[in-house]
Amino acid sequence: MPDTAVRPHIRHILSADQFEPDFIKLLFERADYMRRNVEHEQRHNRIGSTLAGHILYRLFFKESTRTYESFGFAATHLGMAVLGTQDVQNTSIAKGESLEDTIKTINCYLPSVIVMRSAQAGDVARAAAVSKVPIINAGDGSGEHPTQALLDLYTIREEIGRMENIHFVMGVDPYHSRVIRSLALIAAKYSGNRFTFVSPKEFRLQDDVKQALTKAGASFSETDDVAGALKQADIVCWNRFQLERHTPAQQKFIKENPNVIEEYSIGAKEVALLPKNARIIDPLPRVREIKTEVDDDPRAAYIRQMYYGMIVRMALIEWTLGHLG
Ligand code: CP
Repeated sequence: MPDTAVRPHIRHILSADQFEPDFIKLLFERADYMRRNVEHEQRHNRIGSTLAGHILYRLFFKESTRTYESFGFAATHLGMAVLGTQDVQNTSIAKGESLEDTIKTINCYLPSVIVMRSAQAGDVARAAAVSKVPIINAGDGSGEHPTQALLDLYTIREEIGRMENIHFVMGVDPYHSRVIRSLALIAAKYSGNRFTFVSPKEFRLQDDVKQALTKAGASFSETDDVAGALKQADIVCWNRFQLERHTPAQQKFIKENPNVIEEYSIGAKEVALLPKNARIIDPLPRVREIKTEVDDDPRAAYIRQMYYGMIVRMALIEWTLGHLG
């Protein structure tokens, strides 16, 4: 096996597209078991020991609260040791060491699995190409966030009881939101799902995901009519403008249209337009795309979503280590 090839015998998690509905069904059944287990252990002031003796390492080149911490807690609830850094400027990367050498270095200390967030799309695949242990993509620039897509889908199953025949309304920055990209890729594998992407035209979905949706036979449309889209939603997936990734033209657009963030924000007025059984999910962090006045509405699922995230990540860590078929 040449060092430049992604090692297929290792269970990396690189893209939402690698998972099919049959596997996801098994994964979510295992997540349900994990949830019962973790709640039982917590009632008895204990943590689990399913993966005792294993080590999870978190290598985060970009900021994170939920992904970094939920992987840490998930591993701890499984009885693993947890190590890592969110402070890459204090590693030898700052002296010019390459990503590949960094991964080879961490491999020498015998982790069981590495969870990695990077600034650039494709960096996590580069890491996987040289790693002898599984690598989990915890978000790579404007690329993908596959574990987020799986936890989003689990949240949807929990909240509305199905994963098919859903009208997804997704905004507000489909161009840069790796969460929207990954969730669309995975949800398109279920029959009857359709997608309305809501954004100013400067932030429309990129062609690669549009092509994947077309190939999967999923119907989708694009609009800047927030109210019109919300009225017909089953699932609203709302995610902030990704200001840190904008092109110069997009930065100029935001500067020249200072009201745009407010115009695409969901508050009580917008929630009143939603069908009674709809749900709002958001990967968070929240930067004005949903107003706090929405939080207590039963349709706001984004706080519960974070708990489901830890549970799904427990099942995913287990899978990378050879469990679950
Ligand atoms: N959802 C998500 O990726 O959040 P963090 O950036 O806080 O990890």
